[in-house]
Amino acid sequence: MKVIKVKDYEIMSDKVCEMFIDRLQTITNPVFGLATGSTPKGLYKRLVKRYNAGDIKFDRATFFNLDEYIGLDPSNPSSYTYYLTHKLYKHINLSPEQINFPNGNAADLKVECERYEQKIAETGQIDLQILGVGINGHIGFNEPGTSFNSRTGVVQLTESTLRVNSRFFGSIDEIPHRAITMGIGTIMESKEIIMLVSGAHKADTLKRMLHGKVTEDFPASILQKHPRVTVIADEAAFGET
Ligand code: GLP
Repeated sequence: MKVIKVKDYEIMSDKVCEMFIDRLQTITNPVFGLATGSTPKGLYKRLVKRYNAGDIKFDRATFFNLDEYIGLDPSNPSSYTYYLTHKLYKHINLSPEQINFPNGNAADLKVECERYEQKIAETGQIDLQILGVGINGHIGFNEPGTSFNSRTGVVQLTESTLRVNSRFFGSIDEIPHRAITMGIGTIMESKEIIMLVSGAHKADTLKRMLHGKVTEDFPASILQKHPRVTVIADEAAFGET
């Protein structure tokens, strides 16, 4: 793993944005996997700004969202579909064929997961996957105990994730208990991964991700085995402020 330590959240966002734009401009038909949550917001804000400035265009790019809650309407501001649509997609002039979400409202969720997995495979795999990490080490919504070989599927969220993510909902009772997520096996097939970590509350998580035992009890530890991962983390995440 390549590790880049930066001063703070803003510099982390600058750095990932620079790397993202490099891949956008050097890969012929780039395929991006995108995460949600608080951590990548700065990246999406910067991409929109650079697009509006006329510096970059996205006409050859394809996007896959990492995960989605089950049972939320895409018009629900807490859904990940809404998040990425409003923070990025609607601002950068994409056609619907360039955007892929797992449909958490599909009548047959098993078929939906297979469709999504198949769609990723058809693109020839993800060129750059952006990841954040849950405090308990989850990547996407792959909670501790998930097999490292898992494919896109339906997962049950842990109590700790429900508690942490309830900040995006009106109350803890509104958060769905299940989600669709790309599997760990799916994520690991990405050609490149950038993991973003910010804040003192992730200090133990970062330490375990970088130096801990590779174990299914801590999903992010598998990144130690990926051939092309860059972790960009700020000083607070390194426990330095
Ligand atoms: C969420 C998402 C993940 C995200 C993680 C960290 O549960 N499913 O994709 O990376 O938690 O979120 P945050 O960046 O808000 O800390």
